[in-house]
Amino acid sequence: MSPASAATVNERKAAVLAVRSLSVTFQSPTGPFEALRNVTLHVRPGEKIGLVGESGSGKSTIARVVLGLLQEERDVAVSGSVRLGLREILGDQSFIRESRGDRVSMIFQDAVSALNPTFTIGDQFKEVLRRRNPTISTAAALRRARVALADVYLHEPDRVLGSYVFQLSGGMSQRVMIALALINDPDLIVADEPGSSLDVTVQARTLHLMNDLIGRRRTSVMFISHNLGVVREFADRVYVIYRGGIVEHATTAQLFADPRHPYTRALLAAIPRLDQRGIPDVPETIPGFADPLIEHEGCEEPSLASA
Ligand SMILES: Nc1ncnc2c1ncn2[C@@H]1O[C@H](COP(=O)(O)OP(=O)(O)OP(=O)(O)O)[C@@H](O)[C@H]1O
Ligand SMILES: [Mg+2]
Repeated sequence: MSPASAATVNERKAAVLAVRSLSVTFQSPTGPFEALRNVTLHVRPGEKIGLVGESGSGKSTIARVVLGLLQEERDVAVSGSVRLGLREILGDQSFIRESRGDRVSMIFQDAVSALNPTFTIGDQFKEVLRRRNPTISTAAALRRARVALADVYLHEPDRVLGSYVFQLSGGMSQRVMIALALINDPDLIVADEPGSSLDVTVQARTLHLMNDLIGRRRTSVMFISHNLGVVREFADRVYVIYRGGIVEHATTAQLFADPRHPYTRALLAAIPRLDQRGIPDVPETIPGFADPLIEHEGCEEPSLASA
């Protein structure tokens, strides 16, 4: 086998994303704040992982490191290892800039503020398509964009392509963002609370649409949510994060059948039920917080060599 084809085989076997011992500390006027402590997780090709934890636990910080966004900020120290395929991205900003929107793309909670307000939707499709294919003509880019918009059931593609984001509804903007995130067939999508700024019925429809499109392409996904009920529907495996550290890692079935960490149990108990009055809170202090990471059978992190 030639060295080139051996590399391709290795790349295919490799995890799409492998995060090892990731720590992030923000410097603030009140002193350093450790937002992530020793986080290790991986996503294999075609796999959907859920990352759940309460507000402020560090979920979006992981997403921002993977997208290379945090490394561009000042007053933040990042250590550990983050690999996309076989490539280490920490310290390689040019690679991550090239990969963003191409090998790895992001679906944000609030599409209206994530889309660029100063360019039409058509121009934003052109820009994203040109990351993969710099010489694509405007006509060809708009043809691809029309197909992508039809895939997300936006039935007036020319009106959408000529619009600015403020001229679209919240649900339409979220569909545009899903179409943009998928158009270059990325290896990995990071979906950070997608649609949670929408009303619950629009959110549910948006999530099912996203899940359907991703499932057809076998794209890998890191699905971030504070809502275990939503993650249950979408993820193959789940990492539970608490105050910047992963506390439990299991397949989705294992986690729901046998939640072991007190924090996971508290999160499960906090899923609102229709027969309950009010929304239960996750308690401020979780007994057993000092427990080490709980990994269920078959969910041990692969070694770096096989990750
Ligand atoms: N640029 C920053 N400077 C200082 N602290 C920050 C910065 N960004 C995030 N943090 C802190 O890091 C912690 C984790 O934030 P993060 O946004 O990752 O939480 P999250 O789990 O995504 O929460 P949510 O569910 O509310 O979106 C929070 O305490 C937050 O205040
Ligand atoms: Mg967040």
